[in-house]
Amino acid sequence: MSILSVKEVTYIYKSKYQSVEAVSNVSCSFDTGKVYAIVGHSGSGKSTLLSLLAGLDLPTKGEIYVYDKPMSSMDRDRYRRETASVVYQSFNLFPLLTALENVTYPMELRGVPVKEAKEKAKALIASVGLEERIAYQLPLMMSGGQQQRVAIARALANNSKILLADEPTGNLDSANGKIIIDLLEKLAHEKDYAVIIITHDMGIADRADIVYTMKDGKLKA
Ligand SMILES: Nc1ncnc2c1ncn2[C@@H]1O[C@H](COP(=O)(O)OP(=O)(O)O)[C@@H](O)[C@H]1O
Ligand SMILES: [Mg+2]
Repeated sequence: MSILSVKEVTYIYKSKYQSVEAVSNVSCSFDTGKVYAIVGHSGSGKSTLLSLLAGLDLPTKGEIYVYDKPMSSMDRDRYRRETASVVYQSFNLFPLLTALENVTYPMELRGVPVKEAKEKAKALIASVGLEERIAYQLPLMMSGGQQQRVAIARALANNSKILLADEPTGNLDSANGKIIIDLLEKLAHEKDYAVIIITHDMGIADRADIVYTMKDGKLKA
């Protein structure tokens, strides 16, 4: 059974003046241990689909299942704390917290004792290939590539099995982009994450195990 199954999902943005069908009758599934790339032009519905996979919103029609459990019946805040993590193009680190504090934060929310959380955060920071001194720096003092690695370490801090990334290399040069993709690939293949990457970058798509293309809200394999 797949960790995520999308069944005939449609999402419509409704406003007073218009409604936009951003995702149209999409069905697909995602397994652990694999890297998925979702590619497509701007406006094709990729970010909307990702927010549905992240449980930030519910489909207008259809259902997303986490194993056999419908997302609509789940505590989705808990789903985001325990099952799925999202990494964004703009890193989204807390600017006033050090790298260590950024990574410790989700564990503190879960009630992990401070000392244990700090130890685990240090190990996670090392596991994404950052030097120990980075742990004590504020995001502003780090390069984009370093910030994205901290963001990934923070995503890993919640023990989730699903890693969702929206243009994770969009603000990085190609060398740093490659480091991030190497890391995401290792997480899928060695740590059994389901890694789902939205990207414009065909170089990333080439390295994915499975590529889905989105066009006008529709998905094809
Ligand atoms: N908050 C919103 N309100 C209304 N329409 C939206 C909103 N967000 C996105 N859209 C529309 O939904 C479609 C898909 O957008 P999006 O999922 O962001 O695509 P992508 O990530 O592929 O660029 C676009 O037509 C976009 O204009
Ligand atoms: Mg987008």
